[in-house]
Amino acid sequence: MNSFDGITEFIKKTPKTELHLHIEGSLEPELMFKLSKRNKVEIPFRSVEEIKSAYNFTNLDSFLKIYYAGSNVLINEEDFFDLTWEYILRCKENNIVHTEIFFDPQSHLVRGISFDKIINGIDKALIKAEKELKITSKIIMCFLRHLDEDSCFDVLKQACNYKDKIIGVGLDSSEKGNPPKKFKSLFEKAIQEGFITVAHAGEEGPPEYIWDSLNLLKVKRIDHGVQCLKDEKLINKLKQDQIPLTVCPLSNIKLCVFNKLENHNLKKMLDKGLRVMVNSDDPAYFGGYLNKNLIDTSKALNLELNDVKILIENSFKSSFLDEKTKNEWLNKIN
Ligand code: ADE
Ligand code: ZN
Repeated sequence: MNSFDGITEFIKKTPKTELHLHIEGSLEPELMFKLSKRNKVEIPFRSVEEIKSAYNFTNLDSFLKIYYAGSNVLINEEDFFDLTWEYILRCKENNIVHTEIFFDPQSHLVRGISFDKIINGIDKALIKAEKELKITSKIIMCFLRHLDEDSCFDVLKQACNYKDKIIGVGLDSSEKGNPPKKFKSLFEKAIQEGFITVAHAGEEGPPEYIWDSLNLLKVKRIDHGVQCLKDEKLINKLKQDQIPLTVCPLSNIKLCVFNKLENHNLKKMLDKGLRVMVNSDDPAYFGGYLNKNLIDTSKALNLELNDVKILIENSFKSSFLDEKTKNEWLNKIN
């Protein structure tokens, strides 16, 4: 066995966590097609192949247009259940033992779907996952940053009825021009209500958005954060405080943040001692779940086995699991 085969084997057999996964981004074309028929929702594609061939993106916004259109087929509680359960089966395949998933309620509420249906569909699948497959999870609700703060306050109010199910809030959607400071009071209120905070920052946007997510939104993790290497002071801060950066390599290539995987800066971030880990973001749209992200990235960047081990450990360390459970998993890996 050569060393790359060894790394591939290690990735497949090691228990892993995923910390950056949009449940709507795990909607595979086959399920999209099935739900469009089941719910009689028109989509601008005649076949699964046509859907797949539409997945060529030039940047984040070009992807989001298709991603929100795809979400339109999700109508009933059963749809959110099926969507989540399909992702859970992928977790099983990828040996993911714990996952922290995002959902975007505003993209469904605007279509008249109730909060109740969305959260219950997701939650029931996650309860089944723990019972039948021993896969644990947390749910993080994301605010759509292209919308105004008032709309986000409305959805926060609804989320307060589901504090037993939702552990934290995040910020996603179109980054450039929608800076973290737009949501300072919203995040203050969310923290007062007991939610943990995270935010997408430095995916396409400048290092300043990472600073502001830390200082104004008081986030515990930065989602993506790959633009941080442009700012020496920021690198030092992220390193010193060991702020988790939930990097998504295949996503970054599909959305043209880097022109090819060989030019991704993940290895540089690792070598600087930053707390990075690998995630799949929107795997149905970006061509791969967690193992593929880890395997392809290891190959493209010539990662050592020890680098991969650190990535997997970082993910457990940065999860919102309790300390005891985290340590149990970390001991198992070793
Ligand atoms: N929503 C789903 N995927 C996203 C991404 N990569 N960046 C911002 N918002 C998103
Ligand atoms: Zn994301």
